[in-house]
Amino acid sequence: MTRTLKLDGIAFGGDYNPEQWPREVWEEDVRLMRKAGVNFITVSVFSWPLLEPEEGRFDFGWLDDVIELLHGAGIAVDLATATATPPAWLIRKYPQILPVTADGTQLEFGSRQAYCFSSPLFREYALRLTRAMAERYGKHPAVRLWHVSNEYGDHVSRCWCPASAIAFRAWLRAKYASIQTLNDSWGTSCWGQHYLDFDAIEPPRESTGPVNSTQRLDFERFSSDAMLELFRSEVAVLRDVTPELPVTTNFMSILHDLDYFAFADAEDLVTDDAYPDPADPGAHVDASLNYALMRGAKGGAPWLLLEQSASAVSWRDVNVPKAPGVMRLDSYQALAHGADGVMYFQWRAARFGPEKFHAAILGHRGEASRTFQECSRLGAELRQLGALKGSRVTADVAMLCDWDSNWALAAPNSLPTNRISWIGQARAWHRAAFNLGVTVDLVRAAADWSAYKVLLVPNLYLATEALAAQLAAYTAAGGTVVIGPFSGVVDENDHVHPGGAPGPLRPLLGIEVDEVWPVPDGETGAVQMEGVPCGIHTVSEWLDAIDARTVATYTNGELNGRPAVTMRHHGRGSAWYLSACFEDAGLQALVRQIFAHSGVLVRVGAGPDIEIVVRRGRRTAFTFVLNRSAMALDVSVPAGAAVLVGDGRSAAGIGSAGGTYLLPARGVLVIEHAHEDTVHLLGEPAQLQSV
Ligand code: GAL
Repeated sequence: MTRTLKLDGIAFGGDYNPEQWPREVWEEDVRLMRKAGVNFITVSVFSWPLLEPEEGRFDFGWLDDVIELLHGAGIAVDLATATATPPAWLIRKYPQILPVTADGTQLEFGSRQAYCFSSPLFREYALRLTRAMAERYGKHPAVRLWHVSNEYGDHVSRCWCPASAIAFRAWLRAKYASIQTLNDSWGTSCWGQHYLDFDAIEPPRESTGPVNSTQRLDFERFSSDAMLELFRSEVAVLRDVTPELPVTTNFMSILHDLDYFAFADAEDLVTDDAYPDPADPGAHVDASLNYALMRGAKGGAPWLLLEQSASAVSWRDVNVPKAPGVMRLDSYQALAHGADGVMYFQWRAARFGPEKFHAAILGHRGEASRTFQECSRLGAELRQLGALKGSRVTADVAMLCDWDSNWALAAPNSLPTNRISWIGQARAWHRAAFNLGVTVDLVRAAADWSAYKVLLVPNLYLATEALAAQLAAYTAAGGTVVIGPFSGVVDENDHVHPGGAPGPLRPLLGIEVDEVWPVPDGETGAVQMEGVPCGIHTVSEWLDAIDARTVATYTNGELNGRPAVTMRHHGRGSAWYLSACFEDAGLQALVRQIFAHSGVLVRVGAGPDIEIVVRRGRRTAFTFVLNRSAMALDVSVPAGAAVLVGDGRSAAGIGSAGGTYLLPARGVLVIEHAHEDTVHLLGEPAQLQSV
């Protein structure tokens, strides 16, 4: 059964916490929500203690009133099941619900989300509340989406308590069936770790030294599965009572700890919470990678930006506000990347609690606050964009995201270097594509890659025979696969492949890695590519190109003269291997060369501050041009196109004949045009403009 979010237009609104305000404020809230163009509001995320003030006694009266108020104003509701934070009475009755860290410390009540996700007691009470919520509100016309829990894994994503230990053993029993298989898979003959029985196994707590890496990897897999199981159990209750209502749980952008592909399979709509740091000039580049995951999680389907900040957050050491125009740019960036809505944490700025300095749509100053002014303007603009809904981003380039590899590589010890991470590599490779103006999708192993010209695999430390065969088949059929350093090293049990790296990728890549050669901290290495020198860092490898062409060569240190980058034709495609982490400039040059070789078009004039993304609808296409630079840009608008969003002054004069649009610094342009037309930049950024 397909369950879709039924909402007129683009979703616009945010988290609303009326329980923090006296009732007389609620009416004003709703009046101002209407003024700001809000059409969708999330409620009751942390309301369990109010909804069930004592065991088994529910008090829905206040929430009834809130939902009625919103409904009366034509505002739809994203209703949280309120299970994100157990109340104090539950914790005091059953303190064993509290989570425990790897060193055995039990975390106390007093913040939020203080529960172990494997606790059967927590689950029992959470499911009872979920059912009560579903029965009470499931038929209410305002309620359009179930918001299960909140940000699984926020604060607590791993728990080492006794309930976790029991659940971990059950998970291991189901996976291995026999203790001998577990012993073999975990390699317990090393360091005398042999187990006689599953009951002897504990979660990988702090120990005397490095803990068995397969045990750790299995614990990562188990923890993600355990949270997924909890999510699924709430979803099952909701499906039972309200089979027609869509369900979501909000993601935390690319999160190491949870396999979001598996979570996406269990929900109807992908939603994300995005908090790019305004103090980081490259944060929007990484945000674009996060959004690639949000669309990739459900095969390109539209998703929702469920939380962002209208300006500063309150949880970094230094919380810099968003400069004027940046929140608007960030919002359009999410829309450009396939979101059908833009929401905030939160509606009204709090007066107390840990988030009292977190920006909100309605700042402490009220209507006069800059955030309210900027958000209201955006709300009005979004009303013009209903046609965008349902359209999808199409990309020529994909990047493979594999949680198993990501987890296996993250063991904090016992690797040739602990400095390499999947996310670090993924961001660097994505940055190279972004700076060339190329949109990248993030895809899982189980996806169909055939529509992509290039598949980037920044790291595949853990490579199975099956995945290697899939990569070879994709390449043989004409795809270009690009694989990064320290790949094909171990199998699914974290055992080194026979013969060493790249293991099952050897026939495809035509290389053999003899030894990993980490670059010491603070040092860099050098590589020469077609006469052009470029720097490398973190890791390099001593490899032999057995059946591959050397594209770049190391030019210093012990690897001097040896192959650094190789390429091998395979069937109708080609397979590239980068044996080092490249500095940005060199990586971009290399990626440009690979794109040229594979027929991927790069955009002239693109760069870190200019982003152009196309969404395709049934009849028309939508091109987003986001200008974060300090200069105005000349953008060519094709004949017959319509400027949906832009700066009013510049829009004047663009009629049906098309023309050139002067997009100011920090400007946003959304153009609707025929599929066959393209919007492009005229040369490099023109005309300096003050911001
Ligand atoms: C999110 C969370 C919200 C709020 C927000 C602040 O992680 O879901 O409840 O705390 O952060 O940025």
